[in-house]
Amino acid sequence: MNVVIFGAGFIGKRLAEAIPGSTLVDADIADRAVVQQTLAANYASVIINAAGKTGRPNVDWCETHQQETFRSNVTGALVLADVAAETGAYLLHLGSGCIFYGMKRTHVRSGFYATEPWLENDHANPSAYYSRTKYAADLVLSRLPNVGIARLRMPIDGRPGPRNLITKLAGYREIIDVENSVTVIDDFVHVVRELISQRATGVFHVTNPGVMRHSDLIALYQELVDPSYVCTWITPEQLVERGLAAKARSNCILASSRLADLGIEMRPIDVALRDAMTKYAENHRR
Ligand SMILES: NC(=O)c1ccc[n+]([C@@H]2O[C@H](COP(=O)([O-])OP(=O)(O)OC[C@H]3O[C@@H](n4cnc5c(N)ncnc54)[C@H](OP(=O)(O)O)[C@@H]3O)[C@@H](O)[C@H]2O)c1
Repeated sequence: MNVVIFGAGFIGKRLAEAIPGSTLVDADIADRAVVQQTLAANYASVIINAAGKTGRPNVDWCETHQQETFRSNVTGALVLADVAAETGAYLLHLGSGCIFYGMKRTHVRSGFYATEPWLENDHANPSAYYSRTKYAADLVLSRLPNVGIARLRMPIDGRPGPRNLITKLAGYREIIDVENSVTVIDDFVHVVRELISQRATGVFHVTNPGVMRHSDLIALYQELVDPSYVCTWITPEQLVERGLAAKARSNCILASSRLADLGIEMRPIDVALRDAMTKYAENHRR
Protein backbone atom coordinates (compact mmCIF):
# COMPACT_ATOMS: atom_id res chain seq x y z
CA MET A 1 0.00 0.00 0.00
CA ASN A 2 1.73 3.20 -1.18
CA VAL A 3 0.21 6.09 0.74
CA VAL A 4 0.58 9.70 -0.39
CA ILE A 5 -0.57 12.39 2.05
CA PHE A 6 -1.35 15.82 0.60
CA GLY A 7 -1.14 18.80 2.96
CA ALA A 8 1.96 19.28 5.11
CA GLY A 9 0.10 21.01 7.95
CA PHE A 10 -0.76 20.02 11.52
CA ILE A 11 -2.71 16.84 10.78
CA GLY A 12 -0.84 15.84 7.61
CA LYS A 13 2.43 15.77 9.56
CA ARG A 14 0.93 13.76 12.43
CA LEU A 15 -0.48 11.22 9.95
CA ALA A 16 2.82 10.95 8.07
CA GLU A 17 4.64 10.10 11.32
CA ALA A 18 2.07 7.44 12.17
CA ILE A 19 1.77 5.70 8.79
CA PRO A 20 5.05 3.93 8.08
CA GLY A 21 6.28 4.33 4.50
CA SER A 22 3.81 7.09 3.65
CA THR A 23 4.93 10.11 1.64
CA LEU A 24 3.93 13.61 2.76
CA VAL A 25 3.76 16.18 -0.04
CA ASP A 26 2.90 19.86 -0.23
CA ALA A 27 2.01 19.70 -3.95
CA ASP A 28 -0.93 21.90 -4.99
CA ILE A 29 -4.05 19.71 -4.92
CA ALA A 30 -5.97 22.07 -7.19
CA ASP A 31 -3.41 21.61 -9.99
CA ARG A 32 -4.46 18.48 -11.84
CA ALA A 33 -1.16 17.94 -13.71
CA VAL A 34 0.82 18.28 -10.47
CA VAL A 35 -1.49 15.82 -8.70
CA GLN A 36 -1.21 13.28 -11.55
CA GLN A 37 2.58 13.61 -11.57
CA THR A 38 2.85 13.26 -7.78
CA LEU A 39 0.69 10.14 -7.66
CA ALA A 40 2.48 8.50 -10.57
CA ALA A 41 5.92 9.25 -9.14
CA ASN A 42 4.92 7.58 -5.86
CA TYR A 43 2.91 4.68 -7.35
CA ALA A 44 0.13 5.77 -5.01
CA SER A 45 -2.63 3.29 -4.21
CA VAL A 46 -3.96 5.34 -1.28
CA ILE A 47 -4.32 9.13 -1.12
CA ILE A 48 -5.03 11.07 2.07
CA ASN A 49 -6.24 14.62 1.60
CA ALA A 50 -5.06 16.61 4.62
CA ALA A 51 -4.66 19.77 2.52
CA GLY A 52 -6.98 22.71 2.79
CA LYS A 53 -7.37 26.31 3.81
CA THR A 54 -8.25 26.43 7.49
CA GLY A 55 -7.48 30.13 8.01
CA ARG A 56 -4.82 32.00 9.98
CA PRO A 57 -5.07 33.01 12.74
CA ASN A 58 -8.48 31.33 12.54
CA VAL A 59 -11.36 30.45 10.18
CA ASP A 60 -12.49 34.08 9.98
CA TRP A 61 -9.69 34.45 7.41
CA CYS A 62 -11.77 32.31 5.03
CA GLU A 63 -14.59 34.91 5.09
CA THR A 64 -12.32 37.44 3.42
CA HIS A 65 -10.31 34.97 1.26
CA GLN A 66 -13.13 33.06 -0.37
CA GLN A 67 -11.41 32.28 -3.66
CA GLU A 68 -8.32 30.75 -2.03
CA THR A 69 -10.61 28.84 0.34
CA PHE A 70 -12.86 27.26 -2.29
CA ARG A 71 -9.91 26.56 -4.59
CA SER A 72 -8.26 24.40 -1.92
CA ASN A 73 -11.26 23.04 -0.04
CA VAL A 74 -13.58 22.35 -2.97
CA THR A 75 -11.69 22.39 -6.30
CA GLY A 76 -8.64 20.62 -4.81
CA ALA A 77 -10.75 17.93 -3.17
CA LEU A 78 -12.61 17.31 -6.45
CA VAL A 79 -9.35 17.12 -8.44
CA LEU A 80 -7.99 14.49 -6.03
CA ALA A 81 -11.22 12.47 -6.28
CA ASP A 82 -11.19 12.69 -10.08
CA VAL A 83 -7.57 11.59 -10.42
CA ALA A 84 -8.11 8.85 -7.82
CA ALA A 85 -11.01 7.52 -9.93
CA GLU A 86 -8.79 7.55 -13.04
CA THR A 87 -5.97 5.64 -11.37
CA GLY A 88 -8.03 3.31 -9.17
CA ALA A 89 -6.49 4.75 -6.00
CA TYR A 90 -8.49 5.02 -2.78
CA LEU A 91 -8.96 8.55 -1.43
CA LEU A 92 -9.52 9.38 2.23
CA HIS A 93 -10.59 13.02 2.49
CA LEU A 94 -10.49 14.89 5.81
CA GLY A 95 -13.81 16.55 6.41
CA SER A 96 -15.00 18.64 9.31
CA GLY A 97 -17.79 18.24 11.85
CA CYS A 98 -17.99 22.04 11.90
CA ILE A 99 -20.55 21.87 9.08
CA PHE A 100 -23.22 21.37 11.76
CA TYR A 101 -24.48 24.27 13.85
CA GLY A 102 -26.28 23.60 17.11
CA MET A 103 -28.22 20.47 17.94
CA LYS A 104 -30.21 18.49 15.41
CA ARG A 105 -33.91 19.05 16.07
CA THR A 106 -36.33 16.29 15.18
CA HIS A 107 -40.02 17.00 15.00
CA VAL A 108 -41.96 15.06 17.65
CA ARG A 109 -45.44 16.52 17.24
CA SER A 110 -46.95 19.88 16.41
CA GLY A 111 -44.68 22.54 17.91
CA PHE A 112 -42.49 20.02 19.80
CA TYR A 113 -38.97 19.02 18.95
CA ALA A 114 -36.43 16.59 20.40
CA THR A 115 -32.69 17.20 20.08
CA GLU A 116 -30.34 14.50 18.88
CA PRO A 117 -26.72 14.16 17.76
CA TRP A 118 -25.95 14.63 14.08
CA LEU A 119 -25.40 11.50 11.99
CA GLU A 120 -23.31 11.19 8.83
CA ASN A 121 -26.20 11.38 6.36
CA ASP A 122 -27.94 14.33 8.00
CA HIS A 123 -28.12 17.48 5.92
CA ALA A 124 -25.75 20.02 7.42
CA ASN A 125 -26.47 23.69 8.07
CA PRO A 126 -23.07 25.41 7.63
CA SER A 127 -22.85 29.13 8.21
CA ALA A 128 -19.18 30.24 8.04
CA TYR A 129 -17.57 30.21 4.57
CA TYR A 130 -14.98 27.61 5.67
CA SER A 131 -17.77 25.27 6.78
CA ARG A 132 -19.69 25.82 3.56
CA THR A 133 -16.68 24.77 1.47
CA LYS A 134 -16.10 21.68 3.61
CA TYR A 135 -19.73 20.63 3.18
CA ALA A 136 -19.66 21.37 -0.56
CA ALA A 137 -16.81 18.87 -1.00
CA ASP A 138 -18.57 16.30 1.22
CA LEU A 139 -21.74 16.47 -0.87
CA VAL A 140 -19.87 15.52 -4.03
CA LEU A 141 -17.35 13.07 -2.59
CA SER A 142 -19.63 11.15 -0.22
CA ARG A 143 -21.28 9.05 -2.92
CA LEU A 144 -18.13 8.04 -4.84
CA PRO A 145 -17.19 4.35 -4.82
CA ASN A 146 -13.49 4.80 -3.97
CA VAL A 147 -13.69 7.66 -1.46
CA GLY A 148 -13.98 7.83 2.31
CA ILE A 149 -14.50 10.99 4.34
CA ALA A 150 -13.26 11.27 7.92
CA ARG A 151 -14.94 14.19 9.70
CA LEU A 152 -13.05 15.41 12.74
CA ARG A 153 -13.72 18.28 15.17
CA MET A 154 -11.60 20.59 17.28
CA PRO A 155 -8.49 18.37 17.43
CA ILE A 156 -6.92 17.82 20.84
CA ASP A 157 -3.31 16.74 20.97
CA GLY A 158 -0.69 15.82 23.56
CA ARG A 159 1.76 18.17 21.87
CA PRO A 160 1.39 21.92 22.32
CA GLY A 161 0.77 23.75 19.03
CA PRO A 162 -1.32 26.56 17.57
CA ARG A 163 -3.87 24.19 15.98
CA ASN A 164 -4.34 22.16 19.17
CA LEU A 165 -7.57 23.00 21.07
CA ILE A 166 -5.72 22.82 24.40
CA THR A 167 -3.19 25.46 23.30
CA LYS A 168 -5.90 27.56 21.67
CA LEU A 169 -8.17 27.67 24.75
CA ALA A 170 -5.27 28.16 27.16
CA GLY A 171 -4.29 31.20 25.08
CA TYR A 172 -7.68 32.88 25.59
CA ARG A 173 -8.85 34.78 28.65
CA GLU A 174 -12.54 34.74 27.63
CA ILE A 175 -14.00 31.36 26.68
CA ILE A 176 -17.44 30.09 25.76
CA ASP A 177 -18.58 27.03 27.67
CA VAL A 178 -20.61 24.74 25.44
CA GLU A 179 -20.94 21.02 24.85
CA ASN A 180 -19.14 19.67 21.82
CA SER A 181 -17.92 16.56 20.11
CA VAL A 182 -14.15 16.64 19.76
CA THR A 183 -11.39 14.50 18.29
CA VAL A 184 -8.28 13.39 20.15
CA ILE A 185 -5.49 13.13 17.60
CA ASP A 186 -4.05 9.80 18.85
CA ASP A 187 -7.47 8.21 18.29
CA PHE A 188 -7.89 9.96 14.95
CA VAL A 189 -4.60 8.59 13.67
CA HIS A 190 -5.64 5.09 14.71
CA VAL A 191 -8.98 5.46 12.88
CA VAL A 192 -7.33 6.77 9.71
CA ARG A 193 -4.96 3.79 9.61
CA GLU A 194 -7.96 1.45 9.90
CA LEU A 195 -10.07 3.28 7.31
CA ILE A 196 -7.34 3.21 4.67
CA SER A 197 -6.52 -0.44 5.32
CA GLN A 198 -10.23 -1.30 4.81
CA ARG A 199 -10.64 1.23 1.95
CA ALA A 200 -13.80 2.29 3.76
CA THR A 201 -16.21 4.44 1.75
CA GLY A 202 -18.77 7.08 2.67
CA VAL A 203 -18.73 9.52 5.55
CA PHE A 204 -17.41 8.72 9.04
CA HIS A 205 -17.83 10.84 12.15
CA VAL A 206 -14.41 10.53 13.77
CA THR A 207 -15.10 12.09 17.17
CA ASN A 208 -14.52 10.47 20.53
CA PRO A 209 -17.72 9.05 22.06
CA GLY A 210 -19.27 11.38 24.63
CA VAL A 211 -19.33 15.16 24.86
CA MET A 212 -16.87 17.66 26.26
CA ARG A 213 -17.50 21.13 27.63
CA HIS A 214 -14.71 23.66 27.26
CA SER A 215 -14.83 23.91 31.07
CA ASP A 216 -13.95 20.17 31.30
CA LEU A 217 -10.83 20.79 29.25
CA ILE A 218 -9.87 23.88 31.25
CA ALA A 219 -10.42 22.09 34.59
CA LEU A 220 -8.04 19.35 33.47
CA TYR A 221 -5.56 21.95 32.19
CA GLN A 222 -5.59 23.61 35.62
CA GLU A 223 -5.18 20.23 37.34
CA LEU A 224 -2.35 18.85 35.18
CA VAL A 225 -0.65 21.74 33.39
CA ASP A 226 -1.07 25.16 35.01
CA PRO A 227 -2.99 25.62 38.29
CA SER A 228 -2.61 29.41 38.01
CA TYR A 229 -4.55 29.66 34.73
CA VAL A 230 -7.77 31.69 34.99
CA CYS A 231 -10.41 32.70 32.44
CA THR A 232 -13.83 34.32 32.20
CA TRP A 233 -16.76 32.33 30.83
CA ILE A 234 -18.84 34.05 28.14
CA THR A 235 -21.79 33.06 25.95
CA PRO A 236 -21.48 32.16 22.24
CA GLU A 237 -23.32 35.42 21.43
CA GLN A 238 -20.80 37.46 23.44
CA LEU A 239 -17.97 35.92 21.38
CA VAL A 240 -19.20 37.82 18.31
CA GLU A 241 -20.55 40.87 20.22
CA ARG A 242 -17.14 41.45 21.83
CA GLY A 243 -15.37 41.19 18.45
CA LEU A 244 -13.53 37.99 19.43
CA ALA A 245 -14.88 36.25 16.28
CA ALA A 246 -16.32 37.63 13.03
CA LYS A 247 -18.69 34.68 12.56
CA ALA A 248 -20.44 32.48 15.09
CA ARG A 249 -18.57 29.22 15.66
CA SER A 250 -20.05 25.78 15.13
CA ASN A 251 -20.91 24.00 18.37
CA CYS A 252 -22.42 20.58 17.89
CA ILE A 253 -22.63 16.96 18.91
CA LEU A 254 -22.02 14.15 16.45
CA ALA A 255 -22.63 10.45 16.79
CA SER A 256 -22.16 7.37 14.70
CA SER A 257 -22.17 3.63 14.61
CA ARG A 258 -20.39 3.50 11.26
CA LEU A 259 -16.90 3.03 12.74
CA ALA A 260 -18.16 0.38 15.18
CA ASP A 261 -19.72 -1.48 12.24
CA LEU A 262 -16.19 -1.79 10.83
CA GLY A 263 -14.78 -2.91 14.19
CA ILE A 264 -13.03 0.44 14.75
CA GLU A 265 -13.11 1.93 18.24
CA MET A 266 -12.27 5.30 19.75
CA ARG A 267 -11.77 5.83 23.47
CA PRO A 268 -14.50 7.70 25.39
CA ILE A 269 -13.69 11.41 25.49
CA ASP A 270 -13.04 11.58 29.26
CA VAL A 271 -10.37 8.84 28.99
CA ALA A 272 -8.79 10.20 25.79
CA LEU A 273 -8.83 13.81 27.05
CA ARG A 274 -7.04 12.94 30.29
CA ASP A 275 -4.45 10.93 28.36
CA ALA A 276 -3.86 13.81 25.91
CA MET A 277 -3.63 16.35 28.76
CA THR A 278 -1.15 14.16 30.66
CA LYS A 279 1.08 14.02 27.55
CA TYR A 280 0.55 17.75 27.01
CA ALA A 281 1.73 18.45 30.58
CA GLU A 282 4.89 16.37 30.04
CA ASN A 283 5.66 18.15 26.75
CA HIS A 284 4.84 21.53 28.32
CA ARG A 285 7.40 20.99 31.10
CA ARG A 286 10.23 20.09 28.66
N1 LIG B 1 -7.55 21.59 12.63
C1 LIG B 1 -8.87 21.55 12.74
O1 LIG B 1 -9.47 22.15 13.65
C2 LIG B 1 -9.68 20.71 11.77
C3 LIG B 1 -10.95 20.31 12.15
C4 LIG B 1 -11.72 19.59 11.27
C5 LIG B 1 -11.22 19.32 10.00
N2 LIG B 1 -9.98 19.71 9.65
C6 LIG B 1 -9.53 19.44 8.28
O2 LIG B 1 -8.32 18.70 8.30
C7 LIG B 1 -7.50 19.08 7.20
C8 LIG B 1 -6.12 19.43 7.71
O3 LIG B 1 -6.24 20.48 8.67
P1 LIG B 1 -5.00 20.99 9.55
O4 LIG B 1 -5.54 21.26 10.89
O5 LIG B 1 -3.82 20.10 9.37
O6 LIG B 1 -4.77 22.39 8.85
P2 LIG B 1 -3.40 23.11 8.48
O7 LIG B 1 -2.42 22.98 9.58
O8 LIG B 1 -3.80 24.48 8.05
O9 LIG B 1 -2.87 22.27 7.25
C9 LIG B 1 -3.42 22.33 5.98
C10 LIG B 1 -2.28 22.36 5.00
O10 LIG B 1 -2.80 22.34 3.67
C11 LIG B 1 -2.06 23.28 2.91
N3 LIG B 1 -2.80 23.68 1.71
C12 LIG B 1 -3.75 24.64 1.57
N4 LIG B 1 -4.17 24.68 0.31
C13 LIG B 1 -3.48 23.72 -0.37
C14 LIG B 1 -3.45 23.30 -1.72
N5 LIG B 1 -4.23 23.86 -2.66
N6 LIG B 1 -2.64 22.29 -2.05
C15 LIG B 1 -1.82 21.71 -1.13
N7 LIG B 1 -1.77 22.08 0.16
C16 LIG B 1 -2.61 23.09 0.53
C17 LIG B 1 -1.81 24.41 3.86
O11 LIG B 1 -0.79 25.25 3.39
P3 LIG B 1 -0.92 26.86 3.63
O12 LIG B 1 -0.83 27.02 5.12
O13 LIG B 1 0.23 27.37 2.88
O14 LIG B 1 -2.24 27.27 3.10
C18 LIG B 1 -1.42 23.63 5.13
O15 LIG B 1 -0.07 23.27 5.10
C19 LIG B 1 -8.22 20.26 6.51
O16 LIG B 1 -8.95 19.75 5.41
C20 LIG B 1 -9.20 20.74 7.55
O17 LIG B 1 -10.35 21.31 6.97
C21 LIG B 1 -9.19 20.39 10.51
